[in-house]
Amino acid sequence: MFSLEGKVAIVTGASRGIGRAIALAFASQGADVALCARTESALDQVAAEVRELGREALVQVVDVRDAASAEAAIASTVETLGRLDILVNNAGITRDTLLMRMKDDDWEDVLATNLTGPFYFTRAAARIMLKQRGGRVLNISSVVGLMGNVGQANYAASKAGIIGVTKSLARELGPRGVTVNAIAPGFITTDMTSGLKDEHQSRLRDAIPLGAFGEPEDVAAAACFLASDAARYVTGQVIQVDGGMRL
Ligand SMILES: NC(=O)c1ccc[n+]([C@@H]2O[C@H](COP(=O)([O-])OP(=O)(O)OC[C@H]3O[C@@H](n4cnc5c(N)ncnc54)[C@H](O)[C@@H]3O)[C@@H](O)[C@H]2O)c1
Repeated sequence: MFSLEGKVAIVTGASRGIGRAIALAFASQGADVALCARTESALDQVAAEVRELGREALVQVVDVRDAASAEAAIASTVETLGRLDILVNNAGITRDTLLMRMKDDDWEDVLATNLTGPFYFTRAAARIMLKQRGGRVLNISSVVGLMGNVGQANYAASKAGIIGVTKSLARELGPRGVTVNAIAPGFITTDMTSGLKDEHQSRLRDAIPLGAFGEPEDVAAAACFLASDAARYVTGQVIQVDGGMRL
């Protein structure tokens, strides 16, 4: 039902965690995948896994904060894999600290990566999607963008901002057959969250109705639905994958 046979996707932050899981899930549904991140060796490993699933993979070493690199990544995806149907803006960082200790760089790095990066990639991808009158844009937000969090004013701003972008572009690109949706994961077990102290983790777990943290594959499953033809009538939505953390 969620087949991606014959489609080409580009996934940012695909070297590990949620981005890697989305890339592999897309490949297992039949898509060829362009993999973007900053570390070539990690991307090569994910590319090998995509090829084991019988699909084509294109490795692109890209810093999403750079507009020219984003343009080049989109162009070489089309040139090498033949087309572009799905963009997943997944690359993201945290620089958590309380407001009084937050440096200008902490603010700017997070906004540049989590919000400006998706803007660069979406602008470049939309040029192609609008022309072909179809496409899917998926933005990886966070429940923190919906509810806020102590020590994450920068991250929450970026993740709330991407929801505003999602809803605006759903309206703007919808008439030409391009859907734009966001996924808001809760606490997912990845390198991003592995640094949290055990005590903090157990407090967080207690606040989750399903009583457990999510896995990257839980987010990938929602991404497969939103990227597939099954979601053709869904746009401008924020799908929470959070075990009920925010109801
Ligand atoms: N893990 C969670 O609990 C959780 C919860 C909600 C939202 N998210 C979001 O999901 C996304 C993926 O998170 P994750 O947990 O897999 O994180 P992660 O740290 O494991 O992976 C992040 C990926 O982004 C890439 N990246 C970071 N900065 C980049 C840049 N400037 N240019 C190119 N690539 C860059 C990294 O190389 C890596 O591939 C992020 O947007 C994150 O904010 C994660």
